[in-house]
Amino acid sequence: MREQRDGAFENISLPEGVSLREVGGSLPIMSFSTGKRILLWGLPVALLVIAGAVLVYLVLARSATSSPRTHKANEDPTGFTLQHVMIVHRHGLRAPSHLSNWSNPDDYPMGVGYLTKLGKQGSLRVGEILRRFYGNFLTYSPREVWARSSTYPRCYETEYLLLGTLYPPRSFWDFGLSVQPIPITMVPNGNDVLIESCTASVPGDFKYMYNETHRELQEDGFETFGDFMEWLAENSGWSTENSEFYEPIIDALYAQKYNGLHVPEWAEAKWKSMDWALRRLSFDYWKLSVPYYGQYMGKMIANRTLGSAEGSHRNRLSIMSYHDTSIQAILSALKFDHVAMYPSFLGALHFQLYKRDSDGEFYVRSIYSRGFTACGDYRDASQITIQDCPFPDCTLKKFVAVMNGLYPDTNRSSCPPIDLKALL
Ligand SMILES: *[C@@H]1O[C@H](CO)[C@@H](O)[C@H](O)[C@H]1NC(C)=O
Ligand SMILES: *[C@@H]1O[C@H](CO)[C@@H](O)[C@H](O)[C@H]1NC(C)=O
Ligand SMILES: *[C@@H]1O[C@H](CO)[C@@H](O)[C@H](O)[C@H]1NC(C)=O
Ligand SMILES: *[C@@H]1O[C@H](CO)[C@@H](O)[C@H](O)[C@H]1NC(C)=O
Repeated sequence: MREQRDGAFENISLPEGVSLREVGGSLPIMSFSTGKRILLWGLPVALLVIAGAVLVYLVLARSATSSPRTHKANEDPTGFTLQHVMIVHRHGLRAPSHLSNWSNPDDYPMGVGYLTKLGKQGSLRVGEILRRFYGNFLTYSPREVWARSSTYPRCYETEYLLLGTLYPPRSFWDFGLSVQPIPITMVPNGNDVLIESCTASVPGDFKYMYNETHRELQEDGFETFGDFMEWLAENSGWSTENSEFYEPIIDALYAQKYNGLHVPEWAEAKWKSMDWALRRLSFDYWKLSVPYYGQYMGKMIANRTLGSAEGSHRNRLSIMSYHDTSIQAILSALKFDHVAMYPSFLGALHFQLYKRDSDGEFYVRSIYSRGFTACGDYRDASQITIQDCPFPDCTLKKFVAVMNGLYPDTNRSSCPPIDLKALL
């Protein structure tokens, strides 16, 4: 059913919406000689044509949210040839990290923190969208992929699913199964310097922000962040004397909303502020950990990109399934607005290594998708400009220096010892 419909969508492109109208225009209106007849027949025909146009519009609008074919494809800058793509993405839509009294455990059959059914579907969809995006660059050889996941199950769940649709078995690799294995690198639990091996403390509270104000808060009638917090405490029953409400309240409400589940009325009424608080606090809650993880994230991106240019690996795609914190750490160090650009589920940074045709020099272009909207649409990726390395002047050398220096080397003397060979 679904497939047939998708097939039908494929044949309807915008220009054909126009041709439908032409069909309407060529109906035998003019063969009726009197004005009366034209009125008699012309009106219903015109209505039919309008109804047809509306139908085509609705079908196109629907397919915009249901078919990867309506998503953008990557456009290479003239005079450059793509060599390697490094993608760092967030995992798919998940259950909250803590159940609250407005969440129903039955809605989260895998348990807290795991992907939900919608999250799994979304991961499959993004694999298709990426296949379309890089259709002219990627082959179907599983060998060209290097994949790494965080040690959190939601991240490798996401990566298995996404790679499954990004690399469906074709020709040589097609032996009658609809999937093929793609190896994903992970380090043993507790050792992942990119996300978990040196958990710093979290801020005791967010009172340092209380006098701040923002458009989103004001639009909901809060003068300051402090006012928002008082309101939140009153309605949720959680104390704002500490930062402990962040996951059980804000993160949990966000998960409910994105999963299309019940959100209490009081929260729904001030959703702009809630959304802003999630994007802002997700960074501030983890900010003491950010330099630890951001430092290695940057080095990993530099290593994979440089490695491709130097020919030390043969991958076309390096892909990493990590967290909102990972992406906010990179965005913030690159002087982007990490609150406005907060990565929703499957938000993805792409670092594209290009070779200039005229002289064989390497350059890096960056693009970004903020991921899924609350309605389940996946946002197209578009170019972003790194202040210290703007494409087309972002030479590989400069890019590698920027990425290696995202954060100063962290002092790990208080962290458990790790085996640095487990890095890659
Ligand atoms: C917020 O403003 C009040 C009144 O001006 C001041 O007493 C307080 O110290 C400020 N708090 C912060 C965290 O800046
Ligand atoms: C939800 O939990 C909070 C604190 O745990 C409590 O104050 C509040 O009354 C509860 N709400 C409902 C609807 O049970
Ligand atoms: C990337 O890291 C690996 C492991 O540490 C190292 O062997 C390799 O030389 C690095 N490659 C580049 C291009 O820096
Ligand atoms: C790292 O931290 C430890 C303990 O706080 C301190 O003794 C050491 O001097 C620091 N190392 C550097 C290089 O700053």
